[in-house]
Amino acid sequence: MELVTLRDILPKAKKEYYAVGAFNFNGYEDAEGIQMGAERAASPVILMASQGACQYIGLYETVGIVKGIAKHSKVPVCLHLDHATDCDFIKEAVKAGFSSVMVDASAKEYETNIRESKAVVDFARDYNCSVEAELGKVGGKEDNIVVEDRSATFTVPADVPRYVDETGIDALAIAFGSVHGFYKSEPKLDFDRLAAVLKLTDCPIVLHGGTGIPIADIQRCIGMGLAKVNVGTELKAAFSNTLRKMCKELPAEEFDPRKFLKPVKEAVSLIVKEKLEAFGSAGKAADKA
Ligand code: G3H
Ligand code: ZN
Repeated sequence: MELVTLRDILPKAKKEYYAVGAFNFNGYEDAEGIQMGAERAASPVILMASQGACQYIGLYETVGIVKGIAKHSKVPVCLHLDHATDCDFIKEAVKAGFSSVMVDASAKEYETNIRESKAVVDFARDYNCSVEAELGKVGGKEDNIVVEDRSATFTVPADVPRYVDETGIDALAIAFGSVHGFYKSEPKLDFDRLAAVLKLTDCPIVLHGGTGIPIADIQRCIGMGLAKVNVGTELKAAFSNTLRKMCKELPAEEFDPRKFLKPVKEAVSLIVKEKLEAFGSAGKAADKA
């Protein structure tokens, strides 16, 4: 199967009140685990690589891994560049074959954010690549982007319609109480703010910082019309904890890397399957906009 874009999967999700899960990966094993989880749930899925992950794996290698995975996949797979702040890097990723990108100009002021995000949309259009952008600032640490709690800013709903119209984006990440990474205290989502945004735009809305938010809260957002949920840290933890466990359990004379890494793939796959079921996208693999 060819890679799909956010345009192929999110409008349908929004209309039918389920969300598509988007999961961060940092190499082959977790990428494959994510796809396995999606296939087990018969759900569309978004595989996300951050700018840092692409630099670690290699940009063309990242595309190669996911195109290879998608080729034998029974479910739609989108390859999405996550939280990219460097426009030249985004263009390279689009040219390399990403089917979707996120331009994160959320640290910039409103007009600059519009201008930079629109420039990415204009560029990506010729490559049939979808674009997500962010308005407001999600707090916490994601890759090399650190937003201290005091600098996180919730999205102002009234800013949304002009932002969406002028940029032409396919999905909008908003800040309404979620945080990247593990939570230091109980997460408190501002559901009224989400409702206000959903009232003002048809653009599919994205929740960042999915790790650690109670599933009931995420499901409440999805029931209101949220269409994409990002999860990263929880998979990183499952990867590392499983690897640590295998290192302890396997005998010292074991040197086949596959014995260590197959359980890692399984652990990632299990979490992804559970999330997709909870997000309501299980069984929706055949759906396209
Ligand atoms: O963009 C990636 C996500 O927002 C990941 O957030 O690591 O808190 O799950 P998380
Ligand atoms: Zn994020």
